[in-house]
Amino acid sequence: MIPRRLEPEVMDTQHEAREYDEMDHSGVNELFVSDFLSACPQSILNDSSDILDLGTGTALIPIEFCRQSKQGNITAIDLADEMLKLAKANIERADLSARVRLIKCDAKQLPFENDCFSVVISNSIIHHIPEPLVAMRDMVRVLKLGGLLFVRDLMRPDSVDQLEALVDQHTSNETDYSRQLFRQSLHAALTVSEVVEMLEGLHLPREAVVATSDRHWTVSTLLP
Ligand SMILES: C[S@@+](CC[C@H](N)C(=O)[O-])C[C@H]1O[C@@H](n2cnc3c(N)ncnc32)[C@H](O)[C@@H]1O
Repeated sequence: MIPRRLEPEVMDTQHEAREYDEMDHSGVNELFVSDFLSACPQSILNDSSDILDLGTGTALIPIEFCRQSKQGNITAIDLADEMLKLAKANIERADLSARVRLIKCDAKQLPFENDCFSVVISNSIIHHIPEPLVAMRDMVRVLKLGGLLFVRDLMRPDSVDQLEALVDQHTSNETDYSRQLFRQSLHAALTVSEVVEMLEGLHLPREAVVATSDRHWTVSTLLP
């Protein structure tokens, strides 16, 4: 098993934010939103539902959510000013300022009351965080009882050979920058066993995490 190797937590240069925004995330984002909507009981998704998206980046997932669902509003947070600048422009261009609000804050210290969101979602933030349990604990804290926690991230492969095979398979047509970003992110990602340990620390069922592709795990669970 290769050890976890961290990458910088926030993506806060103009270059990083622009490169990230310009990569084609559409297929991954569409799947994220449709999987999350399938997991979300109709009883918790209505006009007044407030959904929290952590590490929103340039807000492409909130925008895709609004395309797929006419119900629910999103509070989207990130710690990187440069990401948030592009997120604001993307939301305005999509004419979604009434449904998506942006807040700069740290996912490890959320400035929200306990039990205030019906749904907490996040794609690809966990591998950025040195102590992911701290962020997961805060996600659970702000989620209402019966609310949905839906978190997806990359999954660290067992060996460098497997890691390089994933880089070749999924980024062969991308720039060197994107390939390197994907490689570093896979090195920084958690394994399913490490996520199970986190779930146990939060008193959540270990079955809540499943490997959902050759390179992703997903936690999907209703808060008991
Ligand atoms: C790989 S991007 C994912 C963006 C988006 N969720 C998506 O799927 O397109 C990870 C984002 O998490 C943000 N991030 C990392 N650590 C954070 C923290 N502690 N609090 C808030 N945002 C954080 C980064 O700045 C970056 O925008």
